[in-house]
Amino acid sequence: MSRRPIIAGNWKMHNNRKASAELVCGIKEAIEGIDKDALPEVVVAPVFTSLDVVSQNICNCGCGRIQLAAQNCYFEEKGAFTGEVSIDMIKDFDAKFIIIGHSERRQIFGESDEMINKKAKAIIASGLTPIICCGETLEQRELGVTDSHIASQIVKALEGVAPADVANVVIAYEPIWAIGTGKTCDSAEANRVIKGIRTTLSQIAGKENADKVRILYGGSVKPETIKEQMAQSDIDGALVGGASLKVDSFVEIIKGAM
Ligand code: 13P
Repeated sequence: MSRRPIIAGNWKMHNNRKASAELVCGIKEAIEGIDKDALPEVVVAPVFTSLDVVSQNICNCGCGRIQLAAQNCYFEEKGAFTGEVSIDMIKDFDAKFIIIGHSERRQIFGESDEMINKKAKAIIASGLTPIICCGETLEQRELGVTDSHIASQIVKALEGVAPADVANVVIAYEPIWAIGTGKTCDSAEANRVIKGIRTTLSQIAGKENADKVRILYGGSVKPETIKEQMAQSDIDGALVGGASLKVDSFVEIIKGAM
Protein backbone atom coordinates (compact mmCIF):
# COMPACT_ATOMS: atom_id res chain seq x y z
CA MET A 1 0.00 0.00 0.00
CA SER A 2 1.62 3.23 -1.06
CA ARG A 3 0.61 6.31 0.88
CA ARG A 4 1.87 9.73 -0.18
CA PRO A 5 4.03 11.09 2.64
CA ILE A 6 3.15 14.36 4.36
CA ILE A 7 5.64 16.78 5.87
CA ALA A 8 3.67 19.33 7.87
CA GLY A 9 5.04 22.33 9.72
CA ASN A 10 3.10 23.38 12.81
CA TRP A 11 4.26 26.94 13.40
CA LYS A 12 2.37 27.12 16.72
CA MET A 13 2.16 30.69 18.12
CA HIS A 14 5.08 32.04 16.11
CA ASN A 15 5.44 34.51 13.23
CA ASN A 16 3.49 37.66 12.51
CA ARG A 17 2.26 38.28 8.95
CA LYS A 18 5.64 39.50 7.70
CA ALA A 19 7.60 36.61 9.21
CA SER A 20 4.98 34.13 7.96
CA ALA A 21 5.23 35.49 4.42
CA GLU A 22 9.03 35.31 4.51
CA LEU A 23 9.01 31.75 5.79
CA VAL A 24 6.50 30.42 3.26
CA CYS A 25 8.25 32.25 0.40
CA GLY A 26 11.59 30.79 1.48
CA ILE A 27 10.14 27.26 1.48
CA LYS A 28 8.44 27.86 -1.85
CA GLU A 29 11.64 29.04 -3.52
CA ALA A 30 13.66 26.18 -2.09
CA ILE A 31 11.33 23.48 -3.46
CA GLU A 32 10.30 25.20 -6.69
CA GLY A 33 12.69 23.25 -8.86
CA ILE A 34 11.80 19.83 -7.45
CA ASP A 35 9.54 17.54 -9.48
CA LYS A 36 6.10 17.82 -7.87
CA ASP A 37 5.48 14.09 -7.95
CA ALA A 38 8.73 13.40 -6.13
CA LEU A 39 7.83 15.73 -3.26
CA PRO A 40 5.92 14.66 -0.18
CA GLU A 41 2.72 16.63 0.41
CA VAL A 42 4.13 19.77 2.05
CA VAL A 43 1.82 21.47 4.55
CA VAL A 44 2.26 24.62 6.62
CA ALA A 45 0.08 25.59 9.56
CA PRO A 46 0.48 29.26 10.50
CA VAL A 47 -1.45 31.16 13.19
CA PHE A 48 -4.97 32.24 12.19
CA THR A 49 -3.84 35.84 11.63
CA SER A 50 -1.33 34.71 9.00
CA LEU A 51 -3.64 32.36 7.07
CA ASP A 52 -4.44 35.05 4.51
CA VAL A 53 -0.88 36.11 3.77
CA VAL A 54 0.38 32.53 3.59
CA SER A 55 -2.56 31.53 1.42
CA GLN A 56 -1.85 34.39 -1.00
CA ASN A 57 1.79 33.42 -1.27
CA ILE A 58 0.96 29.77 -1.88
CA CYS A 59 -1.66 30.64 -4.53
CA ASN A 60 0.51 33.22 -6.25
CA CYS A 61 3.12 30.62 -6.96
CA GLY A 62 0.46 28.45 -8.57
CA CYS A 63 2.78 25.50 -8.28
CA GLY A 64 0.57 23.49 -5.94
CA ARG A 65 3.58 22.37 -3.96
CA ILE A 66 2.45 23.67 -0.58
CA GLN A 67 -0.88 23.10 1.17
CA LEU A 68 -2.34 25.24 3.92
CA ALA A 69 -3.53 24.05 7.32
CA ALA A 70 -5.03 25.76 10.35
CA GLN A 71 -3.90 24.80 13.84
CA ASN A 72 -7.38 24.59 15.33
CA CYS A 73 -11.05 25.38 14.66
CA TYR A 74 -14.42 25.41 16.39
CA PHE A 75 -17.07 22.91 15.35
CA GLU A 76 -20.09 25.25 15.32
CA GLU A 77 -20.84 27.12 12.08
CA LYS A 78 -21.31 30.55 13.68
CA GLY A 79 -22.67 32.28 16.72
CA ALA A 80 -21.78 33.61 20.14
CA PHE A 81 -18.42 31.86 20.56
CA THR A 82 -16.05 34.72 21.35
CA GLY A 83 -12.51 34.10 20.18
CA GLU A 84 -13.30 31.04 18.07
CA VAL A 85 -12.92 30.49 14.31
CA SER A 86 -15.27 28.29 12.26
CA ILE A 87 -14.27 25.76 9.63
CA ASP A 88 -15.98 27.76 6.90
CA MET A 89 -13.90 30.81 7.83
CA ILE A 90 -10.75 28.70 7.48
CA LYS A 91 -12.01 27.32 4.16
CA ASP A 92 -12.07 30.92 2.90
CA PHE A 93 -8.27 30.75 2.71
CA ASP A 94 -8.26 27.55 0.65
CA ALA A 95 -6.91 25.54 3.54
CA LYS A 96 -6.96 21.79 3.01
CA PHE A 97 -6.17 20.56 6.53
CA ILE A 98 -7.01 21.47 10.13
CA ILE A 99 -4.91 20.16 13.01
CA ILE A 100 -7.07 19.10 15.97
CA GLY A 101 -6.41 17.57 19.35
CA HIS A 102 -2.83 18.76 19.64
CA SER A 103 -1.53 17.98 23.13
CA GLU A 104 -1.08 21.71 23.76
CA ARG A 105 -4.80 22.20 23.06
CA ARG A 106 -5.70 19.26 25.26
CA GLN A 107 -3.39 20.15 28.15
CA ILE A 108 -3.33 23.96 28.18
CA PHE A 109 -6.84 24.65 26.89
CA GLY A 110 -8.61 21.63 28.36
CA GLU A 111 -9.95 20.17 25.10
CA SER A 112 -11.74 16.88 25.66
CA ASP A 113 -11.95 13.80 23.46
CA GLU A 114 -15.62 14.65 22.95
CA MET A 115 -14.78 18.12 21.64
CA ILE A 116 -12.11 16.71 19.33
CA ASN A 117 -14.65 14.22 17.99
CA LYS A 118 -17.12 17.05 17.24
CA LYS A 119 -14.36 18.95 15.44
CA ALA A 120 -13.32 15.87 13.44
CA LYS A 121 -16.90 15.24 12.27
CA ALA A 122 -17.47 18.91 11.36
CA ILE A 123 -14.19 19.11 9.41
CA ILE A 124 -14.97 15.94 7.47
CA ALA A 125 -18.51 17.21 6.71
CA SER A 126 -16.99 20.42 5.34
CA GLY A 127 -14.75 18.52 2.93
CA LEU A 128 -11.49 19.42 4.68
CA THR A 129 -9.12 16.90 6.24
CA PRO A 130 -8.47 16.73 9.96
CA ILE A 131 -4.96 16.01 11.22
CA ILE A 132 -5.89 14.34 14.49
CA CYS A 133 -3.14 14.36 17.13
CA CYS A 134 -2.70 11.77 19.84
CA GLY A 135 0.07 10.97 22.27
CA GLU A 136 0.96 9.85 25.78
CA THR A 137 2.60 11.70 28.67
CA LEU A 138 5.87 10.45 30.14
CA GLU A 139 3.95 9.25 33.17
CA GLN A 140 1.59 7.17 31.02
CA ARG A 141 4.57 5.70 29.15
CA GLU A 142 6.27 4.74 32.42
CA LEU A 143 3.06 3.21 33.71
CA GLY A 144 2.87 1.06 30.57
CA VAL A 145 -0.48 2.43 29.42
CA THR A 146 0.72 4.09 26.18
CA ASP A 147 -1.01 1.68 23.80
CA SER A 148 -4.38 1.66 25.57
CA HIS A 149 -4.33 5.44 25.96
CA ILE A 150 -3.60 6.02 22.27
CA ALA A 151 -6.24 3.48 21.20
CA SER A 152 -8.79 5.24 23.39
CA GLN A 153 -7.92 8.67 21.94
CA ILE A 154 -8.31 7.33 18.39
CA VAL A 155 -11.59 5.50 19.05
CA LYS A 156 -13.10 8.57 20.76
CA ALA A 157 -11.88 11.02 18.09
CA LEU A 158 -13.46 8.94 15.32
CA GLU A 159 -16.72 7.92 17.01
CA GLY A 160 -19.55 8.18 14.49
CA VAL A 161 -17.26 8.77 11.48
CA ALA A 162 -18.19 6.60 8.47
CA PRO A 163 -15.56 3.94 7.61
CA ALA A 164 -14.99 5.43 4.14
CA ASP A 165 -14.30 8.83 5.73
CA VAL A 166 -11.84 7.31 8.19
CA ALA A 167 -9.67 6.39 5.19
CA ASN A 168 -9.11 10.11 4.43
CA VAL A 169 -8.17 11.41 7.85
CA VAL A 170 -4.58 12.03 8.87
CA ILE A 171 -3.34 11.00 12.31
CA ALA A 172 -0.28 12.43 14.05
CA TYR A 173 1.31 10.39 16.82
CA GLU A 174 3.10 12.87 19.05
CA PRO A 175 4.43 11.51 22.34
CA ILE A 176 4.11 14.52 24.66
CA TRP A 177 7.51 13.92 26.27
CA ALA A 178 9.13 14.27 22.83
CA ILE A 179 7.51 17.60 21.93
CA GLY A 180 9.89 20.53 22.10
CA THR A 181 12.32 18.59 24.28
CA GLY A 182 14.88 17.52 21.69
CA LYS A 183 14.19 13.91 22.78
CA THR A 184 12.97 12.15 19.65
CA CYS A 185 11.08 8.89 20.17
CA ASP A 186 13.11 5.94 18.92
CA SER A 187 11.98 5.32 15.33
CA ALA A 188 11.26 1.62 15.82
CA GLU A 189 9.18 2.40 18.91
CA ALA A 190 7.29 5.17 17.10
CA ASN A 191 6.62 2.69 14.30
CA ARG A 192 5.36 0.10 16.79
CA VAL A 193 2.88 2.58 18.30
CA ILE A 194 1.80 3.73 14.84
CA LYS A 195 1.20 0.12 13.78
CA GLY A 196 -1.00 -0.16 16.87
CA ILE A 197 -2.93 2.92 15.70
CA ARG A 198 -3.44 1.21 12.33
CA THR A 199 -4.77 -1.89 14.08
CA THR A 200 -7.22 0.29 16.01
CA LEU A 201 -8.26 1.95 12.74
CA SER A 202 -8.82 -1.50 11.20
CA GLN A 203 -11.14 -2.40 14.06
CA ILE A 204 -13.08 0.84 13.54
CA ALA A 205 -13.19 1.04 9.76
CA GLY A 206 -11.84 -2.20 8.26
CA LYS A 207 -8.34 -3.03 7.06
CA GLU A 208 -8.73 -1.58 3.59
CA ASN A 209 -9.65 1.85 4.95
CA ALA A 210 -7.05 1.69 7.73
CA ASP A 211 -4.32 0.96 5.19
CA LYS A 212 -5.11 4.23 3.43
CA VAL A 213 -4.73 6.45 6.50
CA ARG A 214 -1.58 8.51 6.64
CA ILE A 215 -0.09 8.44 10.11
CA LEU A 216 2.63 10.95 10.94
CA TYR A 217 5.16 11.05 13.72
CA GLY A 218 5.75 14.30 15.65
CA GLY A 219 8.06 15.24 18.49
CA SER A 220 11.52 16.80 18.00
CA VAL A 221 11.71 15.79 14.34
CA LYS A 222 14.96 17.14 12.90
CA PRO A 223 16.84 16.90 9.60
CA GLU A 224 19.04 14.25 11.25
CA THR A 225 16.12 12.03 12.28
CA ILE A 226 13.80 12.13 9.28
CA LYS A 227 15.43 9.50 7.06
CA GLU A 228 15.34 6.82 9.73
CA GLN A 229 11.75 7.75 10.58
CA MET A 230 10.65 7.58 6.94
CA ALA A 231 12.37 4.21 6.53
CA GLN A 232 9.85 2.66 8.97
CA SER A 233 7.00 0.61 7.54
CA ASP A 234 4.11 2.62 8.98
CA ILE A 235 5.40 6.17 9.46
CA ASP A 236 3.96 8.24 6.61
CA GLY A 237 5.56 11.57 7.38
CA ALA A 238 6.12 14.11 10.10
CA LEU A 239 4.40 16.89 12.00
CA VAL A 240 7.24 19.27 12.72
CA GLY A 241 7.29 22.06 15.31
CA GLY A 242 10.56 23.89 16.03
CA ALA A 243 12.42 22.70 12.94
CA SER A 244 9.62 23.99 10.68
CA LEU A 245 10.31 27.60 11.68
CA LYS A 246 13.51 27.84 9.63
CA VAL A 247 13.56 27.42 5.87
CA ASP A 248 16.78 25.36 5.85
CA SER A 249 15.80 22.78 8.44
CA PHE A 250 12.24 22.39 7.13
CA VAL A 251 13.43 21.97 3.55
CA GLU A 252 16.04 19.43 4.68
CA ILE A 253 13.24 17.48 6.36
CA ILE A 254 11.14 17.66 3.18
CA LYS A 255 14.08 16.36 1.15
CA GLY A 256 14.72 13.66 3.73
CA ALA A 257 11.22 12.35 3.07
CA MET A 258 11.77 11.94 -0.68
P1 13P B 1 8.63 19.93 18.01
O1 13P B 1 9.00 19.45 16.64
O2 13P B 1 9.09 21.32 18.31
O3 13P B 1 9.01 18.93 19.07
O4 13P B 1 7.02 20.03 18.05
C1 13P B 1 6.26 18.93 17.65
C2 13P B 1 4.84 19.33 17.58
O5 13P B 1 4.19 19.55 18.59
C3 13P B 1 4.24 19.46 16.26
O6 13P B 1 2.86 19.57 16.32
